[in-house]
Amino acid sequence: MRDLSIIENSKTESLLLADYVRTHFSQCDCISILEAGCGQSWALDLNGIEYSLTGIDIDEDALALRKENFDDLDNTIIGDLRTLDLPDKQYDLIYNAFVLEHIEDAEKVLNNFYRWLKPNGLLILKIPDRDSVYGFLARNTPHWSHILFYRHIKNCLHAGQPGYAPYPVIYDDSISRSGIRNFCKKYDLELIKELGKNNYIKEKQVTGWLVKYSAMLMSICSLGYLSWRHNDLVFIIRKKATGPNLSTTPTI
Ligand SMILES: C[S@@+](CC[C@H](N)C(=O)[O-])C[C@H]1O[C@@H](n2cnc3c(N)ncnc32)[C@H](O)[C@@H]1O
Repeated sequence: MRDLSIIENSKTESLLLADYVRTHFSQCDCISILEAGCGQSWALDLNGIEYSLTGIDIDEDALALRKENFDDLDNTIIGDLRTLDLPDKQYDLIYNAFVLEHIEDAEKVLNNFYRWLKPNGLLILKIPDRDSVYGFLARNTPHWSHILFYRHIKNCLHAGQPGYAPYPVIYDDSISRSGIRNFCKKYDLELIKELGKNNYIKEKQVTGWLVKYSAMLMSICSLGYLSWRHNDLVFIIRKKATGPNLSTTPTI
């Protein structure tokens, strides 16, 4: 697979995604957005376009905190993205950030996204790359160590409490870079952008250099299998106007 273009931080990523969404839907009066696995805050500044925002999350506490802190959702649904029965072709944009790595059988969620998306709709996926040094460490270390990392390194006071990250990770094969490419092939989806994001190596800090060289070393030890230049994958995917028929879900 070819090398990914790298986005250097989350702010640049959000601006890029918001710009893309604004341009894609510039002719629409009002778009319906599904924030799938919404958690506590909405990341895109879509100033300039009208939209209605539906948030789905399995964690009632996270949704309660979202309401308490922002109250920015037009509709909320508590449920599991694998099993929710929503009408087909309902959303112009499905935004799904840092959720799929927590779900077993994540392919069921991807299949639902295809169903729920309108033709010409966009799917934005953000997923830590399971085959990066970062992803490798995340899936091979215990959950309690993630809680400690969030509390003491990321300074998240409430880490691990109800409604707060980190959530246990699974990293299903279907959400690897090649898994998402297969998903696009299966449904004849257009993979518009596939980017890597690096927000774990902060070179302006002394510790950043330590992290960088440790990650490079791990990458070398894996004979280049684990990438170190990015930790997250970002996909912008478009559902074509004439995708496969939903009654005959294709297999890869
Ligand atoms: C790491 S948080 C990410 C939240 C938010 N998207 C963000 O970027 O900050 C993961 C979220 O996915 C939700 N989640 C995990 N499994 C889910 C499932 N099967 N169905 C719906 N939501 C799920 C969790 O409850 C949590 O709110």
